[in-house]
Amino acid sequence: MATSLEVRGVSLRFGGVRALTDVSFAIKEGELFSIIGPNGAGKTSIVNCISGRYKPTEGQLFYGERDITGLTPNARASLGIGRTFQNLALFHHMSVLDNIMVGRHHLLKNNFLTGSLYWLTGARKEELAHRHKVEEIIDFLDLQSVRKAAAGTLSYGLRKRVELARAMALEPRLILLDEPMAGMNFEEKEDMARYIVDLNEEFGMTVVMIEHDMGVVMDISHRVMVLDFGRKIAEGDPGAVLADPHVKRAYLGEEDEVLVDPDDASPAQESAA
Ligand SMILES: Nc1ncnc2c1ncn2[C@@H]1O[C@H](COP(=O)(O)OP(=O)(O)OP(=O)(O)O)[C@@H](O)[C@H]1O
Ligand SMILES: [Mg+2]
Repeated sequence: MATSLEVRGVSLRFGGVRALTDVSFAIKEGELFSIIGPNGAGKTSIVNCISGRYKPTEGQLFYGERDITGLTPNARASLGIGRTFQNLALFHHMSVLDNIMVGRHHLLKNNFLTGSLYWLTGARKEELAHRHKVEEIIDFLDLQSVRKAAAGTLSYGLRKRVELARAMALEPRLILLDEPMAGMNFEEKEDMARYIVDLNEEFGMTVVMIEHDMGVVMDISHRVMVLDFGRKIAEGDPGAVLADPHVKRAYLGEEDEVLVDPDDASPAQESAA
């Protein structure tokens, strides 16, 4: 399989804060690759370096054969790199349909909202083609029943799904998902996990996912990378990575980060035995 993305020796500093230190990894086309690590480990920072929101202090990024280190976020989006945000970034007053349509803005040749030659030029035809694509995504993510609803009126889980729809509307080859299941209940997480697997398998999108839920990470990832204090401390098969002593140590003392490891007896079970 060809390489989708290669991150080479990326470091990122904000004044005195070292958000990332010499991080390198490569993702193959078609992979579902997860990034995990404690809070503040640099997960969002690395994704921001890939999307172009942050410029690395050192290092390079390659998308396919191409060096994208100096490209703007828009240029990267045009090459097929799409993303969602850790904090929802929807237009609350706009409908679900229009929010998803926004995701296609860089694909629009004509500005169909203001064009006075709307009926005479190709603008109308172009809009119809876009609507068609958007409807496909609405079907895929089961958003038919809320397509006309204002995004701000939806439940949190549905809004996260609309955000995924908007990222998909760009028709990315590589999609970056920053905590797509944060704050969701069990059923919502299960649904979201299924959509992510489907967009990876059916749409053939390469997926980079930041996720704190280790159960989900174990279930759906092909490979996992672990960051801790801005450094890569492990990478590989999910089972092997979560069993790695360095990884376990990185999570020690984190009250809300419990690694799933069925082979490990909990202290309570040990004392009972
Ligand atoms: N724009 C910024 N300005 C200054 N410091 C930043 C900025 N973005 C991130 N940092 C710092 O970089 C480090 C890594 O942050 P980052 O948001 O990448 O962590 P994270 O792994 O995504 O954490 P979380 O799990 O809490 O989302 C932190 O110390 C953070 O405070
Ligand atoms: Mg983050």
